[in-house]
Amino acid sequence: METDERIGFIGLGIMGRPMARNLRKAGYRLTVWNRSRPGIDALVAEGAQEAASPRAVAEQSSVVITILGDSPDTERVALGEDGIIAGAHDGLLHIDMSTISPAVTRAIAERYAAAGIEMLDAPVSGGEQGAIDGTLSIMAGGKREVFNRCRPLFEAMGKTLVYCGPIGSGQVMKLCNQVVVGLNNLAMSEALVLAARAGVDPATMIEAVRAGAGSSWALHNLAPRILAGDFKPGFKVWQQQKDLRLALELAREGYTPLPGTALVHQLFAALEAEGLGGEGTQALVKALEKLANTSISRGAS
Ligand SMILES: NC(=O)c1ccc[n+]([C@@H]2O[C@H](COP(=O)([O-])OP(=O)(O)OC[C@H]3O[C@@H](n4cnc5c(N)ncnc54)[C@H](OP(=O)(O)O)[C@@H]3O)[C@@H](O)[C@H]2O)c1
Repeated sequence: METDERIGFIGLGIMGRPMARNLRKAGYRLTVWNRSRPGIDALVAEGAQEAASPRAVAEQSSVVITILGDSPDTERVALGEDGIIAGAHDGLLHIDMSTISPAVTRAIAERYAAAGIEMLDAPVSGGEQGAIDGTLSIMAGGKREVFNRCRPLFEAMGKTLVYCGPIGSGQVMKLCNQVVVGLNNLAMSEALVLAARAGVDPATMIEAVRAGAGSSWALHNLAPRILAGDFKPGFKVWQQQKDLRLALELAREGYTPLPGTALVHQLFAALEAEGLGGEGTQALVKALEKLANTSISRGAS
């Protein structure tokens, strides 16, 4: 893809804003739309053009990128009255980088096919910092030749680009990622509770275990925050719940049992019932502390 390609960007939130910024830095011309003003103002101040609707973005672009909240949001922006589909023209491509349902992704792609629009699903992993640094992992589904055409564009936003298969495969891959993330969090939390109740220092447990086969991102990054009493969000409980719900829905469609994922989903639900949905996902340990009548920070009781 040459930098004379006209890029449209929709969804200028925590992730979208820095991703759009990195495309600008790489030399792409950008037309943007966001539901509310702050995202638009930030990008327009940096040289992007504003459009009046997703339809107008599509009309002025050869590639439209979206990174929105959940499946209904992407559906609305893609297929709504003033949506991307209403701005269909020859050669238009929509890349959805949100984390949404693979089934909804395929349904949108089908409607697009009838209107002559190509689609890739390309959800990301790496969080806000990865978006700012341009080091996201991008998992893409769709036609391989379309993915290849988009490589330079992805390289402006990410470091690891994985072609996953036909449309929807990127979302499936992202949900696999979230299953691993959720269960590693549970394993780390259980180990902390066990260490505290069995009378060993949780900090020493972290040091010993993360050096070996039990190592995980959660043990390296989340466990020290728990010991410091830091439950500020990198990734919020309600955001992880959305992804686990999507994974469980996907599993149900194919009669795939995911008992561990279901358990993590229920434990997070207990936190949400307590009003803790806005805390970081390391708060999972609080549900286990309750079950075990213990507190990691004040030691086992
Ligand atoms: N945050 C992370 O660490 C992370 C990491 C990997 C993947 N993701 C995924 O990336 C996506 C975006 O996450 P985020 O953290 O950037 O969320 P966010 O900050 O809440 O941004 C969401 C964006 O979507 C827009 N939006 C939501 N619903 C809409 C609708 N119905 N119509 C039009 N626009 C709508 C919002 O507009 P307004 O500005 O008007 O609200 C905003 O621009 C999600 O699917 C998330 O799961 C997030």
